[in-house]
Amino acid sequence: MSAAVSPDIRPITADVAVGADAPANAEFRELVALRNAVEADTMGTSALNLSVEELLPALTDTALRRYLHVGAWVGGELVGRGLVILPSDEGSAVARTLVDVLPAHRGAGIGSALLAEVERMAAAEGRAVLQVDVAHRASEGGERLASPTGFGDVPAADPGARFLLAHGYRLEQVLRVSRLDLDVTMPEIPSVEDEFALHAWVGATPPPWLEDVAVLKTAMSTAVPSGELTVSETVWTAGDVQDRDARQRRRGRVLLTVVAEHRPSGRLVGITEIEVPADDRPAFQEDTLVLPEHRGHALGLRLKVRNLHELRRHAPGTSTVLTFNAEENRPMLTVNEAMGFRAMAHEGSWEKHAR
Ligand SMILES: CC(C)(COP(=O)(O)OP(=O)(O)OC[C@H]1O[C@@H](n2cnc3c(N)ncnc32)[C@H](O)[C@@H]1OP(=O)(O)O)[C@@H](O)C(=O)NCCC(=O)NCCS
Repeated sequence: MSAAVSPDIRPITADVAVGADAPANAEFRELVALRNAVEADTMGTSALNLSVEELLPALTDTALRRYLHVGAWVGGELVGRGLVILPSDEGSAVARTLVDVLPAHRGAGIGSALLAEVERMAAAEGRAVLQVDVAHRASEGGERLASPTGFGDVPAADPGARFLLAHGYRLEQVLRVSRLDLDVTMPEIPSVEDEFALHAWVGATPPPWLEDVAVLKTAMSTAVPSGELTVSETVWTAGDVQDRDARQRRRGRVLLTVVAEHRPSGRLVGITEIEVPADDRPAFQEDTLVLPEHRGHALGLRLKVRNLHELRRHAPGTSTVLTFNAEENRPMLTVNEAMGFRAMAHEGSWEKHAR
């Protein structure tokens, strides 16, 4: 155990006041560098690093959520950061939080000081339910902490797991991070003739589909398995979809979307999205949803495989796709395993109720 240090903890502003397209301020640049260093240390790869330009639009306020950032400085160096995300969902008691400390500065009480500050900030916003999603070192064997869902576990010795347990958080769910190497595997598009038509687009949502995409994104907010975690519905409007599209453009990352239209009604009933960076770093499989009344037609697989082919066409240099799924989400894992995805790490979803 190191000697305790008293970091200087104060807010960091993401540069929205001077326009979302303005260059980020110096402190936000340091915060991004710190975020990347911690991520690379935990995941054992820098493939998940993001640039300031990619992160800024994703960490500034929208109509759907607000972001509060704090930094911890020791001797003028930024050594830790805290984040509080406040969903705007009606009546939400939830604050999503995160604390990162540079590996060289751990074990000196900096993480605990930052956590106390983000918990204080959440309480000041009237949020009594604290939720943390955090990657845990990929490892096998050793003492394990089992998910109460009955599916998946995380290493009990992981510093993040120890830290959260010590501060009163409960592990509620384990997510599997999986990767697909496209040079190895390129699944065939199943050819089926039925009442569904697939449509694909690159970038912004075509105006005729904005309302339907908003309905699907709203359904997605409560559709994924979430164990005993506190969940509220995020109601998307067509304007929120357009705002998301504009941010995506500013981030320099392109969204490839495939949707399923139910021909008899003309409505969209399924969607899948892949986010692609401008270079050869991994692409991210984002939301996939088929509305419950239209399940059982292999639409999940058809949507996702079609989008992999769109990915190949629009970003031929991309060789890896990453995806995050709840360990108990068997239908989605079955689709992914059939496509060739393999587990590479785990993420824990933790929750604490303030007293
Ligand atoms: C988890 C993490 C934030 C902890 O940061 P940290 O600065 O090492 O945190 P602390 O020093 O307050 O506590 C870590 C350990 O040091 C101990 N410690 C050492 N010196 C201490 C001191 N002076 N005061 C308080 N605790 C001290 C704590 O008791 C704790 O012990 P434990 O591992 O046996 O539980 C850090 O490991 C990290 O960034 N990990 C990656 C991201 C992550 O997992 N975040 C957690 C989810 S929000």
